[in-house]
Amino acid sequence: MNGHPVSGGVPNMAVKKASHSFIIPTGLDLLRDPALNKGRAFSAEERDVLGLRGLLPPKVTTLEEQAEFIITNVRSKPSDLDRYNSLIGLQDRNETLFYRVLIEHLSELLPIVYTPTVGLACQRYGHIYRRSRGMYISDGDKGHVREILGNWPVDDVRVIVVTDGERILGLGDLGVHGMGIPIGKLSIYTACAGVKPSQCLPITIDVGTNNKALLGDPRYLGLPHERIRGDEYDALIDEFIYAAQDRFPNVLIQFEDFGNANAFRLLEKYKDKVCVFNDDIQGTAAVSLAGIMSALRMKDAKLSDQTIVLFGAGEAATGISDLIVLAMMKEGMEEAAARQRCWLIDSKGLVVKSRTDLVSHKQAYAHDHEPLPDLLSAVLALRPTILIGASGQTSAFTKAVLSSMSSYEARPIIFALSNPTSQSECTAEEAYNSTDGRAIFASGSPFGAVTFGDRTFTPGQSNNAYVFPGVGLGIIASGATRVTAEMFFEAAKTLSNETTADDFAIGRVFPSFDRAREVSAKIATAVAKVAFRSGLATNEEPSNFLSSIKAQMYEPVYKSYV
Ligand code: NAI
Repeated sequence: MNGHPVSGGVPNMAVKKASHSFIIPTGLDLLRDPALNKGRAFSAEERDVLGLRGLLPPKVTTLEEQAEFIITNVRSKPSDLDRYNSLIGLQDRNETLFYRVLIEHLSELLPIVYTPTVGLACQRYGHIYRRSRGMYISDGDKGHVREILGNWPVDDVRVIVVTDGERILGLGDLGVHGMGIPIGKLSIYTACAGVKPSQCLPITIDVGTNNKALLGDPRYLGLPHERIRGDEYDALIDEFIYAAQDRFPNVLIQFEDFGNANAFRLLEKYKDKVCVFNDDIQGTAAVSLAGIMSALRMKDAKLSDQTIVLFGAGEAATGISDLIVLAMMKEGMEEAAARQRCWLIDSKGLVVKSRTDLVSHKQAYAHDHEPLPDLLSAVLALRPTILIGASGQTSAFTKAVLSSMSSYEARPIIFALSNPTSQSECTAEEAYNSTDGRAIFASGSPFGAVTFGDRTFTPGQSNNAYVFPGVGLGIIASGATRVTAEMFFEAAKTLSNETTADDFAIGRVFPSFDRAREVSAKIATAVAKVAFRSGLATNEEPSNFLSSIKAQMYEPVYKSYV
């Protein structure tokens, strides 16, 4: 260690390093610390100095060789769930190697660490759980949340992704087994936007579950009682929000997969008070708007000329509508006229003014129209040019719906966003087959290439991972104190502008996911600029936003400890 005398052979001894200001454990403690472990890549000298001799197989490997072994091993697994388990195991052992592999194979591995495989992992969480990651706060912790957050060993946490597990993807209430989602999302923050792993904290708030199967399952990891609601629930969330601000000043809190009754309320309650956003509402909106902007460029059309039907009237659909309205207003439309272009359909049919059962988030889109019972009748009556599915209803975009749209619209824009794949409103193949290959299609979960006639389409995935990591990085880089709709609008515009003619040629309205880091840096730049323009930034303004942001991004490389 730079000539410092170190008792190399003594495991568990803490070593103060001269060239770094942190304490490095030695021996087995070092091998068991995923943030510091390099596995077989510890050099001979490091092995001597850090008490690792004899604790590792003798042959020293490089990070590149390790990464190659890992991807070969992951690919050899019999199922996606096995691949997920193998990657999570690696994350628990060696973070640098995990991110190296993930970043090198982003397009291939994102569907494993995130949707759709993470959905399966959450459904099997009680069976595959091996080691705790992140934090759990339960209703029994009321009054002690700040103290509990004090148990987290890192002070400089910048992003918390928090869920209460009530609406996990399109799979419903999975209680604390939804923890796979915050963990996966934060891995994406690091992989796609270079937010340092140590700055990320996944949290699940256990307020019970109403999932009967889980309540009766001895392997369920949460408290086995029904969900707490009302004042008791609100008080726990409130305590958590302010305890988190106190423990980690300026932390960005991302709400994730809350049931919609709470999601809208919580966002409304906190968005002007703390640095918080809801990815299901706002992140989804930005990525969908980006896809729509690209699709309209592809067919040379204007957003304010479109009629949009959103099948589903929950978090995703309402968030998308709100951002579309903002985008139409930027094209010069009045707000009321813009809202009139967006129609929602929920489980009771078209959302119209005469309905008396509408909760508040739907009311802004309740227009004057006769009630219509289903999607097909709405498509026939309203003749949408854009159809977006965010309902969790498998196969809701029937052949009749899709071919009706293609009867009056040369290039219907059809986004089937529901996740995971099993819940998608239609498949890519169905979209192309029912529209003579004229649909501009995107989906929430990935579909493979589809050949129609002499064309092969590789449709894009409307994946929030295009947006939230860059938004988070922009917030961190600027020290923004709030997250605004303008930031999501600029993120959408930036993402769309990154979509090229080559993407269009294969029917893709998003850039290749392999460019995610480059795209996230540009989104972060756009978001940071909004923060400075709006007076929300607390950091010093850089002279060159993009290069300053790129310089902050985490790279998975091993540090030398000698
Ligand atoms: P949510 O629970 O807030 O909303 C679901 C909506 O679907 C509700 O308005 C409900 O009334 C409606 N619905 C249910 N059954 C219906 C039926 N038979 N006919 C018409 N509408 C029906 O859920 P959220 O957050 O809006 O998510 C919905 C889906 O969108 C999920 O599958 C989720 O995974 C997916 N999603 C996809 C994203 C993406 O691709 N980027 C991002 C966020 C969500």
